[in-house]
Parts: sequence; structure tokens; C-alpha cells
Amino acid sequence: MHTNTRDGFGSKFGAIAALAGSAVGLGNIWKFPYEAGNNGGGAFLLVYVFFTVAIGLPVMLSEFAIGRHSGRNAFGTFMTLGGKTHWRHFGILVLLAACMILSFYGTVAGWTLEYVVKSFTHSLNGLSGTELNTLFSDFISNPYKPVIWQIIFMILTGFIVLAGIKKGIERYTKMMMPLLFVIIVILCIRACTLDGASEGLKFLFLPKFSELSAQGVLSALGQAFFSLSIGMGVLLTYASYIPKSENLTSISIQVICADTAIALLAGIAIFPAVFAFNISPDSGPGLVFLTLPQVFQSMAFGQFWAILFFLLLTMAALTSSISLLEVIVAFFVEERKMTRRKATMLSTFIVTFFGAICTLSFGPLGKLHIAGLTLFEIFDFVSSNILLPLGGILLSVYAGWKFDRHLLEAELTNNGKLRLRLFKPLVFILKYIAPLFISIILLHALHLF
Ligand code: PHE
Repeated sequence: MHTNTRDGFGSKFGAIAALAGSAVGLGNIWKFPYEAGNNGGGAFLLVYVFFTVAIGLPVMLSEFAIGRHSGRNAFGTFMTLGGKTHWRHFGILVLLAACMILSFYGTVAGWTLEYVVKSFTHSLNGLSGTELNTLFSDFISNPYKPVIWQIIFMILTGFIVLAGIKKGIERYTKMMMPLLFVIIVILCIRACTLDGASEGLKFLFLPKFSELSAQGVLSALGQAFFSLSIGMGVLLTYASYIPKSENLTSISIQVICADTAIALLAGIAIFPAVFAFNISPDSGPGLVFLTLPQVFQSMAFGQFWAILFFLLLTMAALTSSISLLEVIVAFFVEERKMTRRKATMLSTFIVTFFGAICTLSFGPLGKLHIAGLTLFEIFDFVSSNILLPLGGILLSVYAGWKFDRHLLEAELTNNGKLRLRLFKPLVFILKYIAPLFISIILLHALHLF
């Protein structure tokens, strides 16, 4: 086992902050609102919360238990645990998902950086909805600017990952998470007092199931996995840094609560504004960049809030992107025996390269479509809606059927020191419910069933 010589989290708060930092990110504030907007609002929210609790929590627990037990990176964990079976190749899926997600993640994080600067230089002041729309489309389709921001964001990510676990990841997340929470609450209060805010709240909280398609259900599942960072080795890798004395169940519940709360708050901040300013709820990936600048304009000290918000959003993105990069770096360091520096540089380079392709698909590469989707959409769809659910199926099957039941129980109860009353139902969900449920949704939405 590598635990003794490996870096690790220094405290429980540090571990929770890093895990919540990975979970809370663009997925909550950028992706959740526009996915909800695309899929009918309330019904999507309900299904999303259901998946988070019923499937997300059990899969997260199993990922934590396996990761802490193995004390290794995701790829190496399955290489060892899988023995001579096909399970040893599971790590490849994990690495692929991490690379794909980080690629398009960097694109959007780059946009948030540009919006920090735009807020700083007063470029968003006094613009109407249409002008904001044009500003956004002009920017994302520019052949250089978004790529440069994406590269800057990826370099920042690389720097933090290079600093290691305690000094890098833990130090930054501890400061940023609470601040982000406060500013979103302030935004919610302002948004809810806008004229016409109630329409937005109705849209978000009153479910209209007629507007939710099979594809929408798959998106809700994909969104739950994406937002919790599960199904792809991030939590497994982070769990390998959690001290044996910590209670994994309580950590999971705290991470899930924080993640769901921030997604909900983001929805409460955005949808009232969508309706107050006559923006279409299904505006897609641009939604947050079109709505919130208008909310800021309607606030006292709007520019100050705008700078702070986009800065914090970038930081939330950073605490997620470092967790994704860590999966790839840990693979190169532990499986390919590279130095951390070399591994970080190589991983950053690979992801930035594919990321640039995603970024350019809003501009010069916009005409390139595969199966009717742009490259950005392909990266997003394949990773969130296919690889993550697939990872979820494999993880639950592995934890439910293959992984030693006693080891699972020992990890979750800290060798019998803690009580876990719901262990049996948990195993039942992992064995049957989660794999079946996810498979049906996946196959149905892909028209294979
Ligand atoms: N959970 C992160 C977010 O919501 C994104 C992410 C996905 C991070 C998968 C790690 C792994 O933004």
C-alpha cells in the first residue's frame, strides 16, 4: 500500500472542503440552470434531486470506500483490484471521462475569466439584453480570445495541482467555498425581489412532467453524476487521501448537501431573472452569462458584485478542474513513474489541446458536426450522459458484487467503530437498483431500448 509515503488531507474540514470543492463548480452554477431550463424546470429538478439521493449517494459511498481502501489512483486501483479480470481496464474509462470533461470544462472556465475582466472594465454596464447576447456570441466565436483564456485557466489548474495535496488543493478550497456560498445567497435575494420573480420560481419548483422527455431524464441523471463528480474516479482518488479515522458516510452527506444547495441557489438566482428580463429559459450554455449581468445592473454596487461573482465562479471551477487533473496526474505519477512536474505538464498539455478544439467549436470549427452535434456538445454529451452513467453502473456492480462485502463494511464503519444501520439497503441498491436503473435510462435515452 502506498498510504504512508503519499501526500494526504490534513484535516476533516480540509477533506470536505476539497471534496465539496470538486463537486461544486460550473456544474452547479452554469450547467444545472441551463439543463433545467432546457428540460422543463421543475420536473427536471425533482428527478435530479431524486437521482442525487437514491443513486448518487450509494455510488459515492462505494467510490469512497474503494478509494480509501486501495490508497491509490483510480487507474491503479482497478489494475490491482481487478486482478486478471476485465475490471482492470475500468481505469481507462475513468481516464477518458476525466480528459473529456476537463477539456470542455476549461472552455467554460475561460469564458468566466473573460467575464471577470469584462466586469472590471465596465464592459457589461448599461447593456440591454440583446446587446449582452451579441457581446457573448461575439466573444465565444472569436478565434483567439476564448482559447487564450482557456489556456490561462488550464495553466492555473496545473500550478495548483503541482503544489500537491495539502499545500495546493486543500489550502485554496478552504478559503473559497464559504465565500462563494455567501455571494450566491446575496444574488438570490436580489433576484427574488425583481419584478416578475415569481414566474421564475414557479418554473423552477412547479414540475410539469409533460415537458420532460426520456432524454431529459438521462440529462438529469448525467447532471447528478457530473455535479457530484461521481462515476469517474475523482472521488476515488480523493478518498485515497482521506485519513482512515474519518467517517465516510458523514463526509458524503455533507458533500451532497453542499452540492445540491448550491445548484438550487443558482437556480433561484437565475430563473427569476430569466423571466424578469424576458430571456428564454432554454438559451443553453450562455444562460448564466446572459441573465446575471442584468441582475448585477439592477443592484447597488453592481459592478463590485459582478467582479466578485465571476471571480468566485472561476475559483469554483478551479477547485473542480484540479480534481479532474489530479486523476490524470496521479495516473502518470503512480502508474508511469513520472515526476509530478512532468506528469502535470503532460496532462495539462493534452487536456488543453482537446479543450482548444471544444472552444473553437463555437467559432471557426462551428460547422464541424458529428451526429448533428458540435465538438463541444459531443464532449459534453459523451462524457456526462454516457461515460459517467456507465462509470456509475460499473462502480455499483463492482462494489455490490465483486468488492469484498466485509471490506466495504469495514471502510464505511471504520472497522466496526461506527454504526451504519443502512448497510444492507445500501448493498441492495448497489447490487440491483443502481445498475438496473441507470442501464434502463441510458439505453432508453439512446433509443436502444
Ligand atoms: N462536479 C464538478 C462541477 O459540478 C465537475 C466535475 C465533474 C468535477 C466530474 C470532477 C469530476 O462543476
